[in-house]
Amino acid sequence: MLKGFYNSSELDFTIPENKEAMLKAFEQVDKEKGNDYPLIIGGERIMTEEKIFSFSPSTKEQLGAVSSCSQELADRAIRTAHNAFLSWRTTPVEERICCVRRLVELMKQNRFLLDAWSIEESGKNWGEADGELCEALDFFNSYIMHMRELDKGLELMDTDEAVKCIYIPIGVGVAVPPWNFPLSLLAGMVVSAVITGNTIVCKPSSDTPIVAYKFIELCEKAGFPAGVINFIPGSGSVIGDYIVKHPLTRFVNFTGSKEVGLRISRMASEVSEGQKWIKRVVAEMGGKNAIIVDSSADLKRAAAGIANSAFSFQGQKCSACSRAVVLSDVYDAFVEEIAACAKDLQAHQGSGREDLPMGPVINKSAFDRISHYIEIARNEGTIVCGGGFDDSKGFYIEPTVVRDVAKNAVIAKEEIFGPVLAVIRAESFDEALEIANNTEYGLTGSVYTEDRAHIQKAKEEFHVGNLYFNRKSTGAVVLQHPFGGFNMSGTDAKTGTRDYLTNFLNLKSICEDL
Ligand code: ALA
Repeated sequence: MLKGFYNSSELDFTIPENKEAMLKAFEQVDKEKGNDYPLIIGGERIMTEEKIFSFSPSTKEQLGAVSSCSQELADRAIRTAHNAFLSWRTTPVEERICCVRRLVELMKQNRFLLDAWSIEESGKNWGEADGELCEALDFFNSYIMHMRELDKGLELMDTDEAVKCIYIPIGVGVAVPPWNFPLSLLAGMVVSAVITGNTIVCKPSSDTPIVAYKFIELCEKAGFPAGVINFIPGSGSVIGDYIVKHPLTRFVNFTGSKEVGLRISRMASEVSEGQKWIKRVVAEMGGKNAIIVDSSADLKRAAAGIANSAFSFQGQKCSACSRAVVLSDVYDAFVEEIAACAKDLQAHQGSGREDLPMGPVINKSAFDRISHYIEIARNEGTIVCGGGFDDSKGFYIEPTVVRDVAKNAVIAKEEIFGPVLAVIRAESFDEALEIANNTEYGLTGSVYTEDRAHIQKAKEEFHVGNLYFNRKSTGAVVLQHPFGGFNMSGTDAKTGTRDYLTNFLNLKSICEDL
C-alpha cells in the first residue's frame, strides 16, 4: 500500500455553499468574457496580432481571444526554456517541490474559477470539471512523492569504489495537451516536466486556451522562475511541426489523436541540424474501447456502467466505451436496458452551466464528424435510441445506441469520439474477447461477468492498458488505476506513477576509485 498519499475529494455541489461559489465563479467568467490573453515567454507577456478565438460549445458565444504564436516566437520560447534549464536543472529538488506545493494551494484557492472556465470552454458538467481538478492535484501530490524517492538515486551493490546512480533532468520539453482534459492533462504535463528539473514550452489546445492560461498564471504565482514554464498557444499548422523538430527540444509530451501522435513520433525521430540527442516522445492517443457483457452479468449494472462509459462528457474521452460486445443469449435484454439508460440521458442534455449529465460536443468539426458517423450507423445497424443532432444553439448530439452492428463495420472499427455506442453480438466468451481485441488500439476495456473463469481469461487475453471488471471503463483515479494504453493508443506512459517521471530523466552512473 502507498503510505502518505491521498486522492483529492470532488466537491459536492448539492451543498449550498459549493453551488453558490460555483454560480459566483460563473459571474466572474462573465465579467472576464471578451478578454485578450497573451503568450508568456520567459515571464514576458507578448500580444500578437494573430489571434485564436475561444468559443463556448454550449452556446457558440465567443469567450475571449488568445494571442497566436509565430515560428519566430516559438523559437524564442524554446531558447528561453533552454537558458532557464541551465539553472533550473541544478535547483534543489525540495525547492522545486516548494513551487509545486504552492501551486496545489493556489489551485485549491482558485478551484471554482478554474472549474467554471473549464466548463465554459469544454462544455463538461460541474462534476466532470471538478473531477479533473482533483486529478490535477493528485498528479502534483503523487509527483512530489515520487520525486523525493527518485532524488535518492538507484540502490546499488556495496563495492570498494564509491558508486552512485542519480536521476538528472534532460532538457526542454514541449507539452501538447488535449481539449478534453484541458486542466488536468496540461497541468500534469507541465508539473511532471518541471518537478524533474526540466523546463517546458506548453502549446494548449486552441479549443481551451483560456483555462490553460489561468493555470499558467497560477504557476507564475507559485514561484516557478521565469522561463521554466512558457505558454505559446498557436495553430498546429504554423508551429506544431516546428516545435517538435526544433533542435533544442529534448522531449515531447502529447495527448490527442492517433494521426497527430504518429506525426509527432515521426517528426521527433528525424535529427535536426545541431541536435545532440534522440528525442523522447510520450504520446497518449485514441481508443476503440470495448466492454464485454457475458451471460452471467447483472444486466442493469452493466447497462448503467456502459452508458456512463459511452456517454459521460458526450463520449469525448479516450477511455470511453464505443463498443458493447454482448453474448447472444442476453443480447436483446441488454439492448433494452442500455436503450432505457440512453433515453434517460437524452432527457437531461444542456449547457455545461446547467450541469446536466449530457452536454455539447466540443466544436463544429466534432459535431460534423460525429453526425456523419451517425448517418453511417443508419446503414450499419438499427438505432434504438438517439440518432438526432442539432447545432442551432450549440453542438448537441443525442446519446445514440446502435444494435446489430457487425464486428467489422465502420462504426465498430473507427474512433468516433462522440456519444455513439455500437452493440455487437458474440456467440461465446472467446468470440467476445476476439472482437474486443479486434482493433489497432488498446486503451481501456471492461468485462461484466460473475464467472471467475471468464475473469481469469480476460486478465490474460484482453490486451488493453486499463482493464476493469464489473465497472465503467472511464474515470481512472491517480495511483489507483495508472492510465495509459497499448498499441496505437500510445506509449503506455501510465500518468501519475514514478515510472512516468523517468520519461523525463536520465540515469547517471558515477564511480570513484577510492
Ligand atoms: N483518464 C481518463 C479516464 O480514465 C481519460 O477516463
